[in-house]
Amino acid sequence: MKVYVYKSVEELSKDVAKLIISNVNKNPKCVLGLATGNTMLPIYKELVKDYKTNQTNYENVKTFNLDEYAGLHYLNKNSYHYYMKKNLFQHININKSNIYIPNGIKKDLQKECDNYNELLQNYPVDLQLLGIGTNGHIGFNEPSTTFTPFTHIVTLKDSTILSNQKLFNKSSEVPKKALTMGIQNIMTAKHIILIATGDSKQYAVKKLLEEPISPFCPASILQKHQNVDIFLNTDSAKLLNKTNLIKKTA
Ligand code: GLP
Repeated sequence: MKVYVYKSVEELSKDVAKLIISNVNKNPKCVLGLATGNTMLPIYKELVKDYKTNQTNYENVKTFNLDEYAGLHYLNKNSYHYYMKKNLFQHININKSNIYIPNGIKKDLQKECDNYNELLQNYPVDLQLLGIGTNGHIGFNEPSTTFTPFTHIVTLKDSTILSNQKLFNKSSEVPKKALTMGIQNIMTAKHIILIATGDSKQYAVKKLLEEPISPFCPASILQKHQNVDIFLNTDSAKLLNKTNLIKKTA
């Protein structure tokens, strides 16, 4: 596991975007695992900027999003479908039929989860992007007594609802349930990049990297993965032991 610490979130985002672009250029049929949240916004901005300048070709790239709220229509501005379209998909030449995001308005949500698992088995993710919740969640895998391996319906923790309410008018509007890839789905990716920026992530980052693997910090499972890069800024890295960190001056 390599841990990079940046002074500037802008430089960090540029480097993560470069990594994604180089994957797409090397393998134009690659499968990208995508994440949402504020952390990803500057990265998607860089991808859009690059597409405008270099026309990086996404025509044959497939994407799988980590999660989606239950009960939100894809036209709802707070849905992750909407987020992805607005911040990335509408700006690049991705083929609509190559975009996969769990559908939170399907009548039978369990069946939707099962279908998503099957799709993920057929198209293993090459590069998975991850953010992290302040409670250590990845995707919407919330702290719990066990790791849930496959795509499932999850009841969101109050702390997650509170952190995610920024985009909603009030916390009561944040859905209480979501669909998320499970831990084994995530761990199957060939390469994982986790990005955490800002003060609010410092405790989760400390647990992820320096405490024993535990389902109470779902992100800690990444310690077991063979090919993970962690991108932090100085704020989120504050509590870490300074050895083993790769410092970026920018
Ligand atoms: C949500 C998403 C996660 C994301 C997290 C952090 O809960 N389901 O995938 O990592 O938010 O979001 P932010 O980047 O806004 O802090």
